[in-house]
Amino acid sequence: MKPLSELKIAVCSDHAGYELKCKIVEYLRSKQAGQVTDFGTHSAESADYPDFGHPMAHAVATGVCDMGISCCGTGNGITMTANRHAFVRAALCWKPELAALARQHNNANVLSMPARFITPEEAFAMIDVFFSTDYEGGRHQRRIEKIERF
Ligand code: RB5
Repeated sequence: MKPLSELKIAVCSDHAGYELKCKIVEYLRSKQAGQVTDFGTHSAESADYPDFGHPMAHAVATGVCDMGISCCGTGNGITMTANRHAFVRAALCWKPELAALARQHNNANVLSMPARFITPEEAFAMIDVFFSTDYEGGRHQRRIEKIERF
């Protein structure tokens, strides 16, 4: 895992996650993240999560960004959207332990969060863990390779 200061991070949300996303972008910049690209939405007006989840996931899938963060109300819609992209492994997390395991076992490259069910502080705690936890490889490698073969 590269240090946060070298990571290019793609961020997105729908309207339900908009406020949290703004705080996340601010938080990442305050932590000197390498590059933060905000794929929208850009207001609290009602919007459709695939319109933002797809561009964010495309950036991760194509290597334009190293990793992503996404949020919507429950986290479900935007996670489902991101996971349609090959080699994107978006993990829906609501506590730091899940964020750590998503990295260790699943080599997750997108951290997804349920904006309506967590506080900004809980989101920041997950971000701290997610971007500092390495993938364990080993037995997990075969499993994540099988995700792409069906
Ligand atoms: C929007 O109201 C809400 O449905 C959306 O943010 C998300 O929870 C969908 O999965």
